[in-house]
Amino acid sequence: MKNLMVTGGAGFIGSNFVRYMLGKHPEYNVLVYDKLTYAGNLDNLLEVAGDACYSFVRGDICDAAAVTEAMQAHQIDTVVNFAAETHVDRSIMDPDAFIMTDVYGTYTLLEVARRLGVERYHQISTDEVYGHIEGDHRSQETDNLAPRSPYAASKASGDLMVLAYYVTYGLPVTLTRGANNVGPYQYPEKVIPLFVTNAIDNQALPVYGDGKQRRDYQYVIDHCEGIDVVLQRGKPGEVYNVGTGSEMENLRMVEILLDELGKPASLIQHVEDRPGHDRRYCLNVDKLRALGWQPGYTHEEAIRATVRWYAANEWWWRKIKSGEFKEYYRRLYGDRKVISAT
Ligand code: NAD
Ligand code: DAU
Repeated sequence: MKNLMVTGGAGFIGSNFVRYMLGKHPEYNVLVYDKLTYAGNLDNLLEVAGDACYSFVRGDICDAAAVTEAMQAHQIDTVVNFAAETHVDRSIMDPDAFIMTDVYGTYTLLEVARRLGVERYHQISTDEVYGHIEGDHRSQETDNLAPRSPYAASKASGDLMVLAYYVTYGLPVTLTRGANNVGPYQYPEKVIPLFVTNAIDNQALPVYGDGKQRRDYQYVIDHCEGIDVVLQRGKPGEVYNVGTGSEMENLRMVEILLDELGKPASLIQHVEDRPGHDRRYCLNVDKLRALGWQPGYTHEEAIRATVRWYAANEWWWRKIKSGEFKEYYRRLYGDRKVISAT
């Protein structure tokens, strides 16, 4: 591995991964290939813009000719695919782009990777492909996929195509399925950046339903490290879960967030739930631990570190929240029924 193409590298996790890889492996060249959708932002990559090992190409993963040209020009031997439509609520409102990018785009990348004969194709996937998890079970990599939102279904389709390319064509693929990431540069549609930035401005925090849904909030750098470990030591054809292996109720996450900011619980507003909302995700991460990886942050440490970053980086999120975001916010939350205010 020498020349990596990181698709979706201008998004939240992708940009953290690029920074992480350039810092950890100064011998690698990293090409970011990104369409710069509403979620892609070159501000996320400002810290590496002057690095001689970093380059950027604007392009769509659905465009086979453009992907081929970028890969050939940069002699790419490894593809790490973060590019996706990623927000569940947007997938419920407008599923189309999810099918295009997360399914057709993944297929396009696989096909170019196969034709050019890369050393490794790595797919970034999500715990949402396992669907809502009952009881105290922790999803294992061999569990059936049971996606329940258009986003999760599009990601599960991508996963199946990646595995089919391994079986059918022998393409050396690996996959990681990550839990809910938190950290710097996450677009403020996702719950933690949305709630921190609303709270800073003393606006209501719209908690869906009873707020007792359970998520594994993991720090983004732990996820990046896990992906790197799989690139170095993972076995082709294999899937690896990445999370902390534990879970937290959303209301507890909100309590920590408000405490870190010194803001009152009266900002919490329970609103009509997300349709088909998965109540619980929880991953078994033993397979990745067996490769020598372990998470460095607890949920609480991850949430507090994230809150502090948003509090210190208003230059980054105020621009975003003042743009087309306002229309999105009105559409999703404007007429939403308020159930109760705490
Ligand atoms: P994000 O929405 O912040 O960024 C997505 C990036 O992909 C953006 O830079 C966007 O411009 C780019 N992109 C979208 N469509 C594209 C296309 N057709 N061609 C090229 N680029 C395109 O996403 P994120 O939260 O950083 O998630 C990255 C990956 O990790 C996704 O595959 C997601 O499914 C997965 N994942 C996310 C989480 C999470 O908690 N955020 C957890 C597990 C897995
Ligand atoms: O689990 C991994 C997934 O995590 C990733 O694959 C997705 O790309 C990522 O968006 C995230 O999905 P979630 O739906 O879990 O994340 P979100 O931040 O949208 O919501 C987290 C929890 O908070 C979820 O239970 C819904 C709830 N929520 C969310 C929003 C936006 C609210 O209560 N209110 C909100 O306004």
